[in-house]
Order: sequence, then C-alpha cells, then structure tokens
Amino acid sequence: MPRNTFFQRAADAPPIPSGTVRFILYCLADFRGWLILMLVLEAGQAAGGILVPYAVKAIMDGVTHPSGATVLESLRGPLLLLAGLNVAEILFSRASGAVLIIVGPRLRQSTTKALYAYLQYHAPRYFSSHFAGALAHRISETAISVNHTTWSVLCDFWPILVTFAVSVALLLNVHQGLGLMVAGWVLAYVSLSYFLATRCQPYAQGYAATRSMVNGKIVDAVTNILNAKLFARLRFERQYLDGFLETEVKAGRRTFWYMERVRWFQFIAAATLKVGTVYYALTLWDGGLIGVGDFTMSVGLALLIINDARNLTRRFLEFFEYVGNVANGVETIVQPHEIVDAPDAVPLKISQGRIEFRNVCFGYEPNQPVFDGLNVVIEPGQRVGLVGFSGSGKSTFVSLMLRNYQPQSGQILIDGMDIGQVLQDSLHEQVSLIPQDPSLFHRSLKENIGYGRLAADDAAIQTAARLANADEFIQVMPEGYDSLVGERGVKLSGGQRQRIAIARVMLKDAPILILDEATSSLDSVTEKTIQDNLDRVMGRKTVIAIAHRMSTIAHLDRILVFDQGRIVEDGGHEQLLAQQGVYYRLWTMQAGGFLPERADNDNC
Ligand SMILES: Nc1ncnc2c1ncn2[C@@H]1O[C@H](COP(=O)(O)OP(=O)(O)OP(=O)(O)O)[C@@H](O)[C@H]1O
Ligand SMILES: [Mg+2]
Repeated sequence: MPRNTFFQRAADAPPIPSGTVRFILYCLADFRGWLILMLVLEAGQAAGGILVPYAVKAIMDGVTHPSGATVLESLRGPLLLLAGLNVAEILFSRASGAVLIIVGPRLRQSTTKALYAYLQYHAPRYFSSHFAGALAHRISETAISVNHTTWSVLCDFWPILVTFAVSVALLLNVHQGLGLMVAGWVLAYVSLSYFLATRCQPYAQGYAATRSMVNGKIVDAVTNILNAKLFARLRFERQYLDGFLETEVKAGRRTFWYMERVRWFQFIAAATLKVGTVYYALTLWDGGLIGVGDFTMSVGLALLIINDARNLTRRFLEFFEYVGNVANGVETIVQPHEIVDAPDAVPLKISQGRIEFRNVCFGYEPNQPVFDGLNVVIEPGQRVGLVGFSGSGKSTFVSLMLRNYQPQSGQILIDGMDIGQVLQDSLHEQVSLIPQDPSLFHRSLKENIGYGRLAADDAAIQTAARLANADEFIQVMPEGYDSLVGERGVKLSGGQRQRIAIARVMLKDAPILILDEATSSLDSVTEKTIQDNLDRVMGRKTVIAIAHRMSTIAHLDRILVFDQGRIVEDGGHEQLLAQQGVYYRLWTMQAGGFLPERADNDNC
C-alpha cells in the first residue's frame, strides 16, 4: 500500500516501519554504539593493512639511502612501524570479530522478536491467506538478512572504501599522475562491477526462485507421501520432480555462466592495473621522478587494491540478495493490521451475558454478503442452538462475535457494549470457543489443557480432563499427561482432540461459551456424558451451540435456523416442530441422524 495512506497498527505491536531501509535502521537503532565502534575497528584494520607498503617503502629508502651509522640502525624506525602495523592489524581485526560475536546474535534476536510480535497482531484473515511455515521461514530469513546486510556494509564495503581512499591518497602523494591513474581505475572498476551485478541480479533471483520452487515441490510431495504410496505413485513422483530439478540445473548454469564472464572482466582488469602501475612507476623511476621506495610502495598498493577489489561484483550481488530478502519479509509481514483495538477501548465487562446483533451486514468479500442486516438478541443465560445447511453462515456468526472479522456495518453488543469498542483481549478472555476442528500445540497434553488457565495446578487439569471424558484415554497413554500430541495434535483421534479442546475451555470457565460442532466427532454416548458435565459445571452461562446432529441441540432453550445468512426460524424444539417449517423438515429428514449436505428438493 502507498506509504502516505493511513497505515493501521495495533497499539501493542512494535512500531516497525514499512520501508526496507527504514526497517533496517529501526533494527539497528539499539546497537548504534557498537556499530560505530565496528566502523572504527574495521577502518583501523584496513588502514593497518594498507600502510604496510608504506613501511616497506621506508625500509627500501633506508636501505638505499642509509641515514644512521649502520643500515640496521637507520632502519629501526621503519622496522618498528612494520611490526606495529602488523600488530595493529591483528588487534583491530580480532576486536572487530569480538564485536561481531557480541552484536550478531543479539541483533538477530531483536529483529526476530519485533517481527514475531508484529505478526501476532494480524487478524485471522491474514493467517488464512498465508502459510504458517512460509511466515515462520520469512521471519528467520529476514532476521538473518538484516545481519548480513549490516555486515556487508561494515565488513566489506566500508574497509574497501578505506583501502581505496588511503591508497589513492598515498599514491597522489608520490606522484599526481600515478595517483590519478589508480583513482580512475578504481572508479571505473567499481562502477562496472556494480553495473554487472545489476545485470546479473535477474539471473540470480530466477535461480533462487527456482530453488525455492523445487523445495516447495519436495515439501508437498513429502507431506503427501502416504497418498503417493496408496496410489503406487512413488516412481511417478520421482519423474515429476525430475522435470523441476532440470529447470533448476538450467537456471543455475545461466547464473554461473554470467558470473564466469564477470570473472573474465575481473582478471583482465586486475592484470591491467598491475602491468599499468609497474610500467608507469618504472617510467617515473627511470625519469628520476620517484625513488625506489616509492616504486615498491606503488606496486604493493596496486596488489592490495586488486586483492580487495576481487569479487566485488559477487559482493554486490550478495548484498542485493540480502536487501531483497529484507524487502520481501517487510512486505509480507509489515502489512496494516486489519483489526485493532479502538484508541479509547475499554475492557469488556460481562455481568449477564446478553448478546445482540444489530443490523449486521458482513461478507468475507464486501460484494458477497453472508449477512445482510442481521438482527437477533440472545438473552442472558440462554442456551441457543444454531442449525442450518452447510455454508448458511453459522460459523461466520460466531466468528463475528469473537471479532475475528469486522462487520461492514451494524453492531454486535455484549451486555450493551459494542465489541468493536472493547479491548480484544478482554473479549477473548470472557468468550470461549470450541471450534469446528480444534488444533492443539505440539506440547504436552498437560500444557494443552492448562492453556485454558495458566495458573491451574495438576489436580485442576485432571478434573477438567475427567469432565471432558479425556482422563481415561490420557491415563493409558505411555507418558500420560506429559505425552506430546504431534503437530496440530495429529497423534490424537478427532474425538480425542475435541475432548482436549473441551477440557481446556472448561478450565477457562468464561461467562459465554460457543460450541461449533464441538462434539461432532464423538459417539453419542460420550457426547451425552460430556453435555451433562458441561451443563453441571458451567452453571447458567450463555451458550451458543452449532450442530449438524440435531439431537445435540434439540434440548436447548432456543433454536435459530439459518438459511443463506438469514435466521428463518426462531423458537424451542417443540414449537419449531409444530410450525412444520424448515426445522421440521430437517428433523424428520435426519430421523435422529445427521443433516444432509443440502436440501435436494422442496418435498423432503
Ligand atoms: N474464511 C473465509 N473466506 C471466505 N469465505 C468464507 C470463509 N469462511 C466461510 N466463507 C463462506 O461464507 C459462507 C458461510 O460459511 P460458514 O462457515 O459460516 O458456514 P457454516 O454454516 O458454518 O457451514 P458448515 O455447517 O459447513 O460449518 C459460505 O459461503 C462460505 O463459503
Ligand atoms: Mg461451520
């Protein structure tokens, strides 16, 4: 989105800027002192290296024109300088290494923390349109790339700049023509290297994109390996992958051939500088314009410059890649937050649990409304069942109550307070949801249940599990309550997962409870036991229960029948049956079993 339009951020999220350069500066802000120190140390190291030829020149001058009694005596100064420079170079470089160790991991940590904290405040819509794995990868990739970008500037480009500047200054001091020649070469070389890097960048990017595409194909194939086996398609999958691997080889070769051409350029440029400097300096020496010391120093400096300039194109390329990674991460994660607390939001206070939808219009896409002016009031302590065909808007109804989405117009009120004007945390602390397909953390069962109330002790966790009929199966697991449940809870059966989700909500004990097909995977006997326990433990709470199995909701105080986003019938079980309308048709059609996917015709 354009920079100048309003960019909405959650108040608790870190104020991360949405531009790449500003983002990097934001990450570096806390390390300013260390980074300046690093600049000094790197400059010291570079200068130490570049002054060695100067010391050699002094030695040469001392040898050819001894000033003291003996040659050694006249060389004491230059020799000490040479030794000092070497020691300085070692000290500067190792001090810089130490700073890198102190700052590097810390910088990576703080970038990761900031991005993760920012990501947390995105709305459910954001997470449903991004893969969790891809987001996690983006965060770590961005954090690493902020580090690499910084070190590229501090440890690559900055020392090179110092080396070039000091060398040219020394050479200008020796002879203006020589200095200007080397300066011209440096300028041309840097510009050309930069230009070649920009030309090579599309190839390198294409290669990286192909690699990540191939990686995605392998991940997909491994995720679906059971499908491949069940259909006897292992060979097919290998051949399928071969095609993509071939593309990767081609993209790799294209990039490497280009880099090879760049290397030709570098070798030729280096040879030109070497030969040029030697020849020019020799001419100057021949003409008596410079001494033998100056000659040695000039050649030494040329070699040093060549050494530093090596791989400049590659460094530019890597730099582009790091900056590109950061840009990519910032673009993905630092989006405006869709749903944030109002600036004057207050905590929600639920004293009774009255819920009101007032003229609510909502569609996931504004031009495809699910609800168009929905009005309904659920009285305190009422137990309400929602029924209706698949896609009629039941889950959307409860999503709106939890403020997972923002209605396009209208209000949802709990005890008279507009949920758009209260703190989201206070809303979520007081409204519990057991979702259609509960997912669990890959942590122990104890931790998963205890998530409902972090302060709960083992006894409370076990009681909740018992009430949710989960204690029995947990006890027989090899590690009991300490068992891990696998990613999202895959090591449990659907019904076991539901019972953990129920236990965790029982522990949370919020005044409003929403059950979205919370017992759909359970057999009728288990379901009945849990229902009874819920009724007993939960006291008189406002309950909204969605179920396809009509027997699950038939005993509730009130039933709302949804059809295409409208509430078409509203009343108790007997009353709705007597009306002989949609509910009656659903009930008789199901005959105590399950709802069909949709009404096939009007006669049923
Ligand atoms: N995240 C989403 N993005 C876009 N459209 C959605 C999303 N979730 C649901 N919908 C659409 O909104 C409509 C209502 O869906 P909803 O999930 O509320 O139905 P439901 O009554 O809960 O159905 P089911 O009984 O199958 O759970 C459907 O047309 C559905 O395709
Ligand atoms: Mg649903």
